[in-house]
Amino acid sequence: MATTYQRIKVAPMAGALGAEIGGIDLSRPPEPAAIAEIRRAFHDHQVLMFRDQKLSPEQHLALGRCFGPLTRSPYVKHMDAYPDIIAVLKEADENKISTFGNAWHSDFSFLEEPPMGSLLYGREIPSHGGDTLFASMYAAYEALSPGMRAMLDGMSAVHTGKPYGVQGVPKDLRVSRSIQMERNNPAADRETLHPVVRVHPDTGRKALFVNAIYTQRFENMTAAESKPLLDFLFAHAIQPEFTCRLRWAPGSLAMWDNRCTMHYAINDYDGRRRLMHRITVAGERSVGPRRNAA
Ligand SMILES: [Fe+2]
Repeated sequence: MATTYQRIKVAPMAGALGAEIGGIDLSRPPEPAAIAEIRRAFHDHQVLMFRDQKLSPEQHLALGRCFGPLTRSPYVKHMDAYPDIIAVLKEADENKISTFGNAWHSDFSFLEEPPMGSLLYGREIPSHGGDTLFASMYAAYEALSPGMRAMLDGMSAVHTGKPYGVQGVPKDLRVSRSIQMERNNPAADRETLHPVVRVHPDTGRKALFVNAIYTQRFENMTAAESKPLLDFLFAHAIQPEFTCRLRWAPGSLAMWDNRCTMHYAINDYDGRRRLMHRITVAGERSVGPRRNAA
């Protein structure tokens, strides 16, 4: 039976995931019943987009706290005035550089407790370009054969903070000035194990949990041995049928579930300024289908 909502309007945006949420002003933290409906929509659609919101940094932070404790991401500079907010800014003169999130990934999956999700708010948005793609890792998992699912259910994979550590940073990487990512931190080379298939703590559904930025190899296998299957999974997970695409406008707020989606920030707006504010909600240890946290 389709879910019904009293306090919000929910319009799915693609077959696999994503919904636009209307009928609610987020400038004051919503009442508990409305939060409960937003949570329900979040569980049903994994990525929510709210339009035409007017949020100060304080209002943005208050909204984020409705969904759990906020957390700060390592290796990335946060705002001096608002240490729980990352300003994702690319200036108009920053051309041919790498931007934050310009590859398919799940945020900071190399942490022992990767973030639950993020609330990304568009402040200055170019007239076109700078969309964000999302992929449903539920859909990716469910489309695999029973044999592949059964095999992956019992596997774990090693994740590391490659872009921030000593071993994996591309030599010629240039990123936008505002991001100020910390590089060459040996602590980021530390390896964390996560189940390849993650059981979502709220929905109980199984989602693939590997991504091309942070997942290095399967547990007890070499990188070379792991590569063919990882490459297959990375490509499998981003088939167009498993994705949705968010087009931003000033005042758009997206909220995504980092445990069952990947995302990709399209860097196609050279010459145009774009400013987003991101806050991050803390997550929990990953749990696989056959055992507790790997
Ligand atoms: Fe990201």
